[in-house]
Amino acid sequence: MFARAFRNSVRPVAFAARSTRNVGTASRVLRQAQPLNSGSINWENPVKDAEFFVSGQNGFLPRQDPLEKLPEQYKELEELMNEMPLTANNGKGLLALGKFGEQVDARLPLYDLTGVTDQRLLAALFRDYTFLASAYLLEPCDIQYLKTGSYGLGRQTLPKNIAVPLEVVAEKIGAKPFMEYALSYALYNYKRIDKSKPAKYDNLKLIRGFSMCPNEHGFILVHVDMVSNSGRLVTAANDTLAAVRKDDRGLFDVSLENYFQGLLTINKAMDTMWKRSDPGKYNSFRTFIMGTKNQPMFPNGVIYEGSPNKEPRFYRGESGANDSMVPLSDNLFELTSQMPDNPLSKVLKDFRSYRPVNHHSFLSHVETEARNVGVQKYAMKNAFSAAVLLKNLDQIRDFRHRHWTFTKEYIIKNTTHPTATGGSPIVTWLPNQLTSVLNAIYNVSGSIDMSKLDLETQDIVDAIRRRGVSQLRVLEREVSDFQQQKEYADQSKYAN
Ligand code: HEM
Repeated sequence: MFARAFRNSVRPVAFAARSTRNVGTASRVLRQAQPLNSGSINWENPVKDAEFFVSGQNGFLPRQDPLEKLPEQYKELEELMNEMPLTANNGKGLLALGKFGEQVDARLPLYDLTGVTDQRLLAALFRDYTFLASAYLLEPCDIQYLKTGSYGLGRQTLPKNIAVPLEVVAEKIGAKPFMEYALSYALYNYKRIDKSKPAKYDNLKLIRGFSMCPNEHGFILVHVDMVSNSGRLVTAANDTLAAVRKDDRGLFDVSLENYFQGLLTINKAMDTMWKRSDPGKYNSFRTFIMGTKNQPMFPNGVIYEGSPNKEPRFYRGESGANDSMVPLSDNLFELTSQMPDNPLSKVLKDFRSYRPVNHHSFLSHVETEARNVGVQKYAMKNAFSAAVLLKNLDQIRDFRHRHWTFTKEYIIKNTTHPTATGGSPIVTWLPNQLTSVLNAIYNVSGSIDMSKLDLETQDIVDAIRRRGVSQLRVLEREVSDFQQQKEYADQSKYAN
C-alpha cells in the first residue's frame, strides 16, 4: 500500500523556490569535518576487561590483536586446528578427507578450563572451540553437499571434549556456546602482518579457517577491513547524541557529516568483496558457518554431551547480521523502531543478541538515547540537518542494497537452500530491512523544505529520493518473483 504511494510520487520534491543564498557553503564546511569526540558520552563498557571494548579508537574491533596461537598446554587442540582446514597439507586437510570427527574423538583431550581467567586467552579458546564445534557438526553436510548439492543431516551430538570446555569458556565471556561473527569467525580471527600499521586489508592475514582458500580469506578479511573504520562511527554517534542534548546545531551537523563519511569509507571497503572473494566459490566454505537453528540439517537441534543442560540446542549460525555497524546506524537514526511490526523484524532483534556483551550494551544505549533525545525530530527541524540525515540513510540503503546483490550473486544463484547461515529466510528477510530504509528515505526526503537548501544540496536530496523510488520498485518485483518459486514457498516457516 505504502509502496504504491511511494511509486506514484517519483516527482516528489517541489523545487519551486531554489535558494541561491547558501550555495555550497554549508556543504563545503561539512566536507572538511573532522571527528570531534565531544567526550560527553553517558555510557561505559559494562565489562571492563573484555577483549571487545567499544571505543572511538578501535570501534567494534577487539582492543588488542587476537591471540594467534594457543599456549603449549593446548598443543593437541592447536594441532587439530591446523590440520582441520580443507586446504591444509596440499588439500588433504582433515575436513577434505572426511576424517575430522574421528580425529577429534581420538585425539582431543577434555581440557579443564574452569581456572582460566586471562581474557585474551579466553577469547582465543572461545574462537577455537567454536571452530571445532562447527567443523565437527557440519563435516558430514559438507561431504554430502559436494556429492549431491544438498546438505543432508549434520552430527546431532556435540561430544563432551568439545561441548564441556566450550560451555565453560562461553559462560566466562558471556556468549552463547556456538560460533559467532565477532567473537570467533570474523572479528577475532585476523593478524596484522606489520604490527605498526593499521588493520587494513593488505596488512591482514587469517588465523583460522574452515577452508583457508583465498576466497575464504577475502570473505572474512573484507569484514575486518570494514570494521577497522568503525571507530569513527562510534565517535560520531556519541557526538550526535551529545549535540541534540546540548541543542548544538553546529555540532549536530558536523557529527552527522562525520558519521556519513565513516559509512562512505565502510561502503567502499565493502565493494572490494567482489574482487576478493569469488561469488562462485562461496559455497565451498559456507557450509561450516551454518547454525543449528532453522536449518534442515538439525531438525531436532544438537545435544551438548556432558552438559547439565540436557535440552537440544538451536543457535543461529555465523552471520554479518551480528555485525554492529548497521545496527548502530539503525539505532542512531531511529530506524529500528520504524521496522514493520512483523515476524521478520523480530528476527532482526534476535540477531542482536548474538554479539559481545559490550557491543550489545552500547547498541542498546544508543537506541534508548536516540529515542529519548529525538535524533530524527531534531534533524527534521532544520532543512540542512535533514539533508545530512538523508545522506546517512542513503548510505545505509547503499549497504543493504549491495548486500542484497551479494546475496543474489553469492548464494541464490548457486543454491536453493531456503535459509541463510544465520537461519533467516533467504529471499524475504534482507528485503524486509531494505524496504524499511527505502521507506524512511521517502518520508525524510519528502519532508525537507527544499527552498532552504543550496542548489548542490537540493540535487543530492533529489538524486537520493529518485534512486530510492526506483530501487523499491525493482525490489518488490524481485521478492514477489522469488516467492513464486516452489523452493521458496515456505519462507515464513523460518521467520522465527
Ligand atoms: C559475499 C558477501 C556476503 C554475503 C553473501 C552475505 C550474506 C548475508 C545473508 C544471507 C544475510 C542474512 C542473515 C543470515 O545470515 O541469516 C546477511 C546479513 C547481514 N550481513 Fe552479510 N553477507 C555478505 C557480506 C557482508 C559484509 C561484508 C558485511 C559487513 C559487515 C555484512 C553484514 C551483514 C549485516 C549487517 C546483515 C544484516 C542485514 C540487515 O540488518 O538488514 N555482510 N548477510
